Amino acid sequence: MQKRAYFGVEGLDRLIPQGMCYGSQIMVHGDTGVGKTVLAAEFIKEGLRCGDTCIYVSCDEPPEVMRRYLQSFKVGTRAYEEAGRLIFVDAYEEGTSREKYHFSEQNSLEKYFALEKELLNKLQSEDKQIRLIVDSLSTMFTLFDEVEVLEFHRSRLKFLRKAGVLVLDVFVDGVLSDRVMTVVSHLYSVILRMKFGGSGVYPVRLLQIGKLRSGKFTSTPYMFWISPIFGILVASELGGVEVG
Ligand SMILES: Nc1ncnc2c1ncn2[C@@H]1O[C@H](COP(=O)(O)OP(=O)(O)OP(=O)(O)O)[C@@H](O)[C@H]1O
Ligand SMILES: [Mg+2]
Repeated sequence: MQKRAYFGVEGLDRLIPQGMCYGSQIMVHGDTGVGKTVLAAEFIKEGLRCGDTCIYVSCDEPPEVMRRYLQSFKVGTRAYEEAGRLIFVDAYEEGTSREKYHFSEQNSLEKYFALEKELLNKLQSEDKQIRLIVDSLSTMFTLFDEVEVLEFHRSRLKFLRKAGVLVLDVFVDGVLSDRVMTVVSHLYSVILRMKFGGSGVYPVRLLQIGKLRSGKFTSTPYMFWISPIFGILVASELGGVEVG
């Protein structure tokens, strides 16, 4: 049987009991500060735990921020980086970067795609299961018009699906137009929405699976918390809350 992949967040994985196949594409979108990068850290931790090679493309913050998140979850990154199991691409710094992989040509989606292909081709010759995380793709898309975004997006996801790469693309809500978000989202096999709910006085964090191309899922929003030690904790089934 084909190996299945999980987020590494117990309450969330329970909502997708059949897991995801390599070659699936996950869209994580949500409010700023809601926990998307924390979720990405857990997804990487899970990948490292089960033997995958993880590539993290850091667009919104320096890669050092993700190293710190992973360290707070008891994952020392150095050994994984030295073994080539964890690769950081610095797409944040516009000037010089201390990172081995640096992408500073944010004005060209084509060049970004070429970098992804080059990295993946190198890894695939070694027959590995790969997780690719881009945090966030909305930042990369802001400079381009709708047609360019969709053209790039379609051919990129097609290439990644064929290559059997498990992709997690992060989008910050409110950065791209609703129309672009809707069209872009159609191409993903799993959509995970993270948002703030509740009242302004008592805000709560909610997550919701918006789509799963195959298999069962529940679209009920679930409350979650971020613990400094355990990371994302999702409410049990009884804790699921119905909101609009
Ligand atoms: N280890 C941790 N323990 C507890 N809280 C944390 C931990 N790491 C991050 N946080 C908190 O979790 C929240 C979410 O952080 P995160 O960086 O994941 O947000 P985000 O959704 O990626 O936001 P943005 O869109 O601005 O990148 C922040 O308020 C942060 O302070
Ligand atoms: Mg973030």
